Amino acid sequence: MKTNMKKIAIIGSGHMGTALLEGFVKSGIAKSRIAMSDGSKTNVRVAASADVIFLAVKPGVVQSVLAEIKDVSSGKLIVSVAAGVTIAAMKKSTSARVVRMMPNIPVAVNEGAIGIFAGGLPALEKKALRALLEKLGIVIEVKKESDLDTLTLIAGCGPGIVAYLVATLALEAKKLGISTFESEMLAFQIFKGTLAYMENTKTPAETMMRSVATKGGVTEAILARLTKEGTRKAFARAIGEGRSRLRKIKK
Ligand SMILES: NC(=O)c1ccc[n+]([C@@H]2O[C@H](COP(=O)([O-])OP(=O)(O)OC[C@H]3O[C@@H](n4cnc5c(N)ncnc54)[C@H](OP(=O)(O)O)[C@@H]3O)[C@@H](O)[C@H]2O)c1
Repeated sequence: MKTNMKKIAIIGSGHMGTALLEGFVKSGIAKSRIAMSDGSKTNVRVAASADVIFLAVKPGVVQSVLAEIKDVSSGKLIVSVAAGVTIAAMKKSTSARVVRMMPNIPVAVNEGAIGIFAGGLPALEKKALRALLEKLGIVIEVKKESDLDTLTLIAGCGPGIVAYLVATLALEAKKLGISTFESEMLAFQIFKGTLAYMENTKTPAETMMRSVATKGGVTEAILARLTKEGTRKAFARAIGEGRSRLRKIKK
């Protein structure tokens, strides 16, 4: 059991590895406590020095990295962020304790939405891990490992979906004659302002929609058209596409 998580290793220095590093440092963890591997050559050294090892490589590379660090990670805690690679599959290549988390890119600014599956981890160790991850954002512990797939689709992919919506609103502003720069600024501020309002006033999304869409008004017409065009059905189909892709990655 490891409740001392002083030394952190991050293997994989891509988008997610870097986001984790930035989030930990922004949260006040000294840089000297974190080592990041920037490629296969440094994996063993980085893992050997750590109490907890975050695996932030692509799913297809997970098994080879686990095999590579097997000797130096024995008895340690490995936290994999790889989408779709199960604990049972990872256990074939390591004797370390393995849990999974599904973060998203806003962990870099300590505003992440993180799912964890840590079944089997002793309560004190889980508490220590949670405390570490809560530095990066909100943490939702799922009861079944398969629920991490939902977190992958909604939380992991979510920032991409939100950015798509921001870009769509900006595009409409631009088509109506606003400059590219101002359209982008406008769309960004509308998302930011709406979320800040909802957060400060504790207004749920459905209530917010109803309060802006006054009867007979312009927003009501826009939202009615979005509904009529099957926007929510399109979202459901899009998430379905993501699930199919995830199933393929898992094979
Ligand atoms: N990006 C997201 O928003 C997101 C969200 C949730 C979960 N995840 C998960 O995070 C993981 C990484 O995703 P990513 O988007 O960060 O991918 P990425 O940007 O491609 O980063 C992967 C990194 O791993 C490095 N790498 C490859 N082989 C390695 C090895 N043998 N040893 C050490 N490092 C190695 C790559 O280096 P080279 O470029 O030099 O090959 C690259 O820096 C994935 O499993 C994904 O499912 C990502």
